[in-house]
Amino acid sequence: MKALVLAGGSGTRLRPLSHSMPKQLLPIANKPVLEYALENIRAAGVREVGVIVGQWAGEIAEALGDGSRFGVRITYIRQDRPLGLAHCVRLARPFLRDDDFVLYLGDIVLPDGITEAAARFGHERPAAHVMVRKVPDPRAFGVVELDTGGRVSALVEKPLRPRSDLALIGVYFFTPAVHRAVAAIRPGTRGELEITDALQWMVTSGAEVTAGEHDGYWQDTGTADAVLDCNRRLLPTLHHTVRGETDHLSVLDGPVTVEPGARVIASVITGPAIIGAGTVVEHSRIGPFASIGRDCVVRSTWVSDSIVLDGSTVADLPRLHDSIIGRSATVGPSGAHHRLLVGDHTRVQIAA
Ligand code: TTP
Repeated sequence: MKALVLAGGSGTRLRPLSHSMPKQLLPIANKPVLEYALENIRAAGVREVGVIVGQWAGEIAEALGDGSRFGVRITYIRQDRPLGLAHCVRLARPFLRDDDFVLYLGDIVLPDGITEAAARFGHERPAAHVMVRKVPDPRAFGVVELDTGGRVSALVEKPLRPRSDLALIGVYFFTPAVHRAVAAIRPGTRGELEITDALQWMVTSGAEVTAGEHDGYWQDTGTADAVLDCNRRLLPTLHHTVRGETDHLSVLDGPVTVEPGARVIASVITGPAIIGAGTVVEHSRIGPFASIGRDCVVRSTWVSDSIVLDGSTVADLPRLHDSIIGRSATVGPSGAHHRLLVGDHTRVQIAA
């Protein structure tokens, strides 16, 4: 089996961060989302991985390389415009040939992995098998309806009146039967070639499409709130490892990672938390649930439930909470009034 990982798209919901980086490379617990995807794929025994890349092709190739670091071989496939998930399958046909494959959205987090689902697909080998999950409000998702035998009977993309609460979570297993479907469908109302339409085409033409319910954690990291939720979920999976320096005035409590070259001075770090390589934390409180990137400075501040990306400075603030700070940013006090230099599509919320 091969894998096709989708790392193109526009990432509009994650602006302004997605103005300067692909959302799939956003680090959560100091590791890019795409790396979690590759680890899950490798754990399911897949070694040949096609990665769909759009405008951030160079950055993604630089981050993942040839895949050997993850035990896989990566082929990059360029998509000039985000014309839909099924469009990605069309583009990847020369890479996929007539092999079975797993289509995996590069912006989802799935800590329990895909090994079980992959084994079920390999064993039963229906024309397609999709991973689904019950959601409270299915209107923002591709929704799957099952017949009494548990087979997929209908799929609708973002229905106004959902007839089921089972949402597609972004992992789909396909036999080569999918290629006739993606060749047959036309763009939907969003102007995209929808993978739900390809699946519906398969169902209508009598192909067996099955669904497996995933009841572990799952998140689509498409929004800032979702990214912070993943941060809370993934940080506790880190082990307590201190390879940087901590002075005798500092206290580390709970699972804390201090990467090599980081320095913790007269500070309290409450895990789960991670401090990136080369970062200096002084006279501060970090955590719980804080991911501080590389080469940052955190001074006289409390940072909790937040992600601070590489090269940023946060200083002299009572508390930064529930926040994401982009790369090489500076956040600090100004005196009596707020002084802001705010980029496009930025959200600023100030405690009154
Ligand atoms: P989405 O999150 O649905 O789309 P998007 O990236 O355009 O985000 P937004 O709605 O915020 O603008 O895409 C799911 C994943 O699939 C994501 O990793 C991007 C990728 N993708 C492609 O690679 N090509 C495409 O044509 C589309 C639509 C998505």
